[in-house]
Amino acid sequence: MRDNPYIYFAPLEGITGYIFRRNYDRFFGGIDAYYTPFLTTRDGGIMKKKELRDILPENNRGLHTVPQLMTKNADEFITAAKHIESLGYREVNLNLGCPSKTVVPKGKGSGFLKHPDELDRFLDRIFSECDIDISIKSRIGFHSPDELPVLLNIYKRYPVKLLILHLRTGDQLYKGEVYRDAFWYAYEELRSTNIPLCYNGDVRVDCRGYGEDESGREIHSVMIGRGFLANPGFMGNEALKGSYMDRERVHEFVMSLQNDYEQVLYGETPVLFKLKELWSHLAGSFPEDGALFKRIKKAKTLKQLESAYGDIFEK
Ligand SMILES: Cc1cc2nc3c(=O)[nH]c(=O)nc-3n(C[C@H](O)[C@H](O)[C@H](O)COP(=O)(O)O)c2cc1C
Repeated sequence: MRDNPYIYFAPLEGITGYIFRRNYDRFFGGIDAYYTPFLTTRDGGIMKKKELRDILPENNRGLHTVPQLMTKNADEFITAAKHIESLGYREVNLNLGCPSKTVVPKGKGSGFLKHPDELDRFLDRIFSECDIDISIKSRIGFHSPDELPVLLNIYKRYPVKLLILHLRTGDQLYKGEVYRDAFWYAYEELRSTNIPLCYNGDVRVDCRGYGEDESGREIHSVMIGRGFLANPGFMGNEALKGSYMDRERVHEFVMSLQNDYEQVLYGETPVLFKLKELWSHLAGSFPEDGALFKRIKKAKTLKQLESAYGDIFEK
């Protein structure tokens, strides 16, 4: 039995690509696995070169990375999963959570949850035709958590490596309360199986030491996304114990990210865009620095951006 749950870094499309993952690991670490942002598929396997680059072994050296696929086409999933396996990976993750307006109408991501029979047939094929372990990241329903029992009955039929539940429905997007009770419902339902359950959604406080609660229920793992963007290193690394912000380390992290993005992205604008997106999450941890964040938002060049965040970190 472990004292603490495993800690997984959530996939955040547009943010947690390999450059981010490598830098996060270098400056903070303590992550048991990084799940990649979703990769799309076509009949030949993985859709885009850029997506393939994100999972190339040389870009993920020293990290425990799990590639994520988003598709409703079993043939495409199987081809892509075999490719992923040939790169040396032992687990692939299926995205059943994306709530985007461009994804849901196509019956993918959380849109797949609206079609449980089709989902069941899809899972039947991929689990019988793939050797690589398959984990699932799912919402608790599309419209309502009342859909969860049906979904769990489907998942239970397969040797799911890990079931990550983002405790919201698809149509909640990323807002509103998480349904914590749904986690404990799933926990009880899965007791009779070998499927480990991972808690996801709005974890912002250090939950080490909560590996087991007073009634003896053990939490296998916790997946965290925005919490780590807002307060990097707040959990997972013993050396950085406590949920405080180490400004100096965050400064070095941001500078290193900027430097690495400048090496691979073309021109200032995409680098500026990436860093501003990160700052939109980090901002919450510097509530007293509102005026400086306005400068970050308005920055038109990297020089202006650097000077604004230099002022924050020098405080
Ligand atoms: C900007 C953004 C991009 C995301 N991209 C993905 C993705 O590619 N795949 C996925 O499964 N979930 C994605 N998610 C959902 C997160 O992985 C996570 O489930 C959600 O943010 C709740 O966890 P958190 O409160 O710890 O961030 C994304 C969320 C955000 C905010």
